[in-house]
Amino acid sequence: MNRYLSLLILLLGLVLVNCKRTEKAQINIIPKPEKLYVSDGIFTLDADSRIIFEDPNPALRLIAEALADSIAGGSSFKPKVVPYSLAKSIENDIFLSMNLNDSTFGEEGYQIRSNNGQFISIQANTARGVFYGVQSLYQLFPAEVYDLMNQNHQEWELPAVTISDKARFAYRGMHLDVSRHMFPVEFVKQYIDLLAMYKYNHLHWHLTDDQGWRIEIKAFPKLTEVGAWRNETLVGHGGARPKVYDGQVYGGFYTQSEIREIVDYAALRYITVIPEIEMPAHASAALAAYPELGCTGGPYKVETSWGVFEDIFCTKEETFTFLEQVLDEVLELFPSTYIHIGGDEAPKTRWKACKQCQQRIKSEGLADEHELQSWFIQRIEKYLNAHGRKIIGWDEILEGGLPPDATVMSWRGIAGGIAAAQMGHDAIMTPGSHCYLDHYQGDPAVEPLAFGGYTPISKVYAYEPIPEELTEKQSKHILGAQANVWTEYLKMPEDITYMVLPRMAALSEVLWSPVKSRNWENFYDRLPAHFERYKALGINYSMSVNQIKVEKIQAADSVIQLNLKTEVPNGMIYYTTNGSTPDTLSARFDQPFDLAEIDLLKMQLYRNGQKVGDIQQRAISVSADK
Ligand code: ACM
Ligand code: ZN
Repeated sequence: MNRYLSLLILLLGLVLVNCKRTEKAQINIIPKPEKLYVSDGIFTLDADSRIIFEDPNPALRLIAEALADSIAGGSSFKPKVVPYSLAKSIENDIFLSMNLNDSTFGEEGYQIRSNNGQFISIQANTARGVFYGVQSLYQLFPAEVYDLMNQNHQEWELPAVTISDKARFAYRGMHLDVSRHMFPVEFVKQYIDLLAMYKYNHLHWHLTDDQGWRIEIKAFPKLTEVGAWRNETLVGHGGARPKVYDGQVYGGFYTQSEIREIVDYAALRYITVIPEIEMPAHASAALAAYPELGCTGGPYKVETSWGVFEDIFCTKEETFTFLEQVLDEVLELFPSTYIHIGGDEAPKTRWKACKQCQQRIKSEGLADEHELQSWFIQRIEKYLNAHGRKIIGWDEILEGGLPPDATVMSWRGIAGGIAAAQMGHDAIMTPGSHCYLDHYQGDPAVEPLAFGGYTPISKVYAYEPIPEELTEKQSKHILGAQANVWTEYLKMPEDITYMVLPRMAALSEVLWSPVKSRNWENFYDRLPAHFERYKALGINYSMSVNQIKVEKIQAADSVIQLNLKTEVPNGMIYYTTNGSTPDTLSARFDQPFDLAEIDLLKMQLYRNGQKVGDIQQRAISVSADK
């Protein structure tokens, strides 16, 4: 061949290779893996592909079967699950094994190799690690893999990747309040599936509170006969005077067999369910069922509105007999080492006026009701420790003295977590400022009714669980963080998923991925692939990340101005105030402007020259209130 021609071909080849490079698949895995390389190959999974697991290993077999079921979702085929000893060879297959033998990956890390597109191997030190590898692999599939209505995919092309990944924090939690509103078993399972997808490993299940007791306890049937039902429910935030109630009896509970089903379902997804049994406060539902356990003897009612209530468990002996029997059944149902005993928001009014509680303070040599609360929690801790369990409590358990082996869940900011870690106790961070997903994620003017606050997804994503105040040694006591989902204003499953999707994806990256890889713009670019998945799953979710927040601010000369905010990276807002359609020729927002005569504000968000979403508009009133 002519020398020049061969040089030309070589150059052409280089150009082609480069083109191919630039067209490498975008990988949208959340939480972002620690190390990820995309190579040029494509792995094609088809009806001949098998899921081969290292045997004998029942845990890997279950993971392999679950993966085969998941792939079968939108496919015309279901991959065969085959033990390695019977597989003869590995080609065009997915191979799961626990032979990584690399302690740097820990209990939860894994490695995925694509072996030049010939087969995919997922290796870890543990079955749990393999499970997380499978979650990442599954995110390489397009969203149609969920589409049960369209099972005609005869093959799947997956980008060839090499991934080395491990968890940053050992505790990655999502909470669910089922007292304020209750949700079907099927939904709790769907919620667990979402946790698994994002590599969470704890579900904190808030089972008892003032507005409903939701766990069947055989020794005390009235807890669910009486305590699971309230006569009606406050409408809205309850600002109207007189308050408005809906007049509908509301309630329900989980039977022990349903609870077992949920705990088992979670365990198969490497999620530990931590039950929360609230004490000494948030106990109205229990007291309505067994009024003799309160200081005044009642009568009490299952509460119909929200807040903090003064009637709490009395510290008399009968309360402990009751709670220990309740806990006996709870321990039977929940293998979790941690049991959450609540401990928050306990007004001391009743204890101050109660002879028996005052007698308890004297006989135990306590200084006051705060020490009585601490004594209460320590007594329960001793009971649970004697049964091989450990307690977690909300940060109020620090008041009056922290029980010796307790883990603190820091919710009133981060001070509780800092104090606990400085005392050598473990802590889980769940500050209201960043981790309460019942707070607004967008402009309250256009969001469904929520508790309050403003916690947009970029704020959740920016959360750093390790407080600066801690030394490196103390910071080891921060086990991780958790997002809380209180359900006063969330009645239906779709209300919950709207609040958690996609904010739980953001927190998953905070908890799993190395802090140095955190990048809001990069995360934002991975979100649309997840919206596609939610859509394919038929799950309601929020697009509030693209919503413009309109804020009224008072300028110095008492002029009211409008400030427009977007969390979209490189987002630009163009707006009109005369009802016309905004575009890039309209006014571009760069600083707050006088409200003046505006009554209709129309806005269009752009990013890198492209429209983001539709026109957003607000009717603006001149009054200074929000
Ligand atoms: C809480 O939000 N009361 C823990
Ligand atoms: Zn009392």
